Amino acid sequence: MIRMRRLRVNETMRRLVRETSVSVDDLLYPVFIEEGEDIKTPVESMPGIYKWSIDRFDEELARIVEAGIPGILIFGVPKKKDEFGSEAYNDNGITQRAIRYIKERAPRLLVVADVCLCEYTSHGHCGVVCDHDVANDETLPLLAKMAVSVAKAGADIIAPSDMMDGRVEYIREALDGEGFSNIAIMAYSAKFASAYYGPFREAADSAPAFGDRKTYQMDPPNGREAIRECENDIDEGADIIMVKPALAYLDVLKEMSFRTDHPLAVYNVSGEYAMVKAAAKKGWIDEKRIVMENMIAMKRAGARIVITYHALDVARWLKDDI
Ligand code: PBG
Ligand code: ZN
Repeated sequence: MIRMRRLRVNETMRRLVRETSVSVDDLLYPVFIEEGEDIKTPVESMPGIYKWSIDRFDEELARIVEAGIPGILIFGVPKKKDEFGSEAYNDNGITQRAIRYIKERAPRLLVVADVCLCEYTSHGHCGVVCDHDVANDETLPLLAKMAVSVAKAGADIIAPSDMMDGRVEYIREALDGEGFSNIAIMAYSAKFASAYYGPFREAADSAPAFGDRKTYQMDPPNGREAIRECENDIDEGADIIMVKPALAYLDVLKEMSFRTDHPLAVYNVSGEYAMVKAAAKKGWIDEKRIVMENMIAMKRAGARIVITYHALDVARWLKDDI
């Protein structure tokens, strides 16, 4: 008889044949920096996650550096919003100031800058609105301006999350033209129009004031189209390809892992985090085991990089287990 159980007899044997692992090196931690002073506001739907003002952020930064996490994904929450998202490409905007502050204090921590207009526009859409639609080509120069502005502030990786067509190539050219040819692009390539972003929009104050994001973010039933999005971004010069959300879209990640040798990232988003935290708080699930199982699932599906709000906890649990 073929006895599959021979290789499961004890933990040492299981360790020996284990195919997938999670390391602190895999993690990127999203952070919210709000314009203002003395702010540490809890995000209600995301227990453990706060909005920080720059002057209070040292506390969290120390935890991140101590945990050994390679990088953070930074989201700025500005005071002023307007139709064109001007604060997004203000060299002295909240995001740019936060990046400079962090790179001064923790120069080796990678700072990934999310590039999108929705946190900065009065209407909350990811691009410029013309006739109640988000205008693709008019948005591209503004995204490029933001990319160059955050690169000047010291960002190591640019992560466009807007889902406009052609933005990777446009941003690449703008970065190269300004002397930033060494700054990598991590593209939110297959980003679905998902209900899983709900808690994030509370945190970043970025919910659209009218309509939804379905004319630019992807339709959840479309797996093949997701592959086209990823392949387009590879052709346009993206260095890292991302799938988002994570757990409900691991089929897309897995398929891309067969098709490309580019590093793949997956974004374990706010709604996925909120669901785990809520059930854990009720005592209905074992938080650590559920989170680690989710981490393994993302790695097994082909992720090289996992962007997750659980990053500090995961880093701590990995240390505890040694
Ligand atoms: C901005 C952006 C969003 C997220 C990352 N960048 C929200 C959105 O597209 O509405 C979602 C992250 C999360 O839910 O954790 N474009
Ligand atoms: Zn956006």
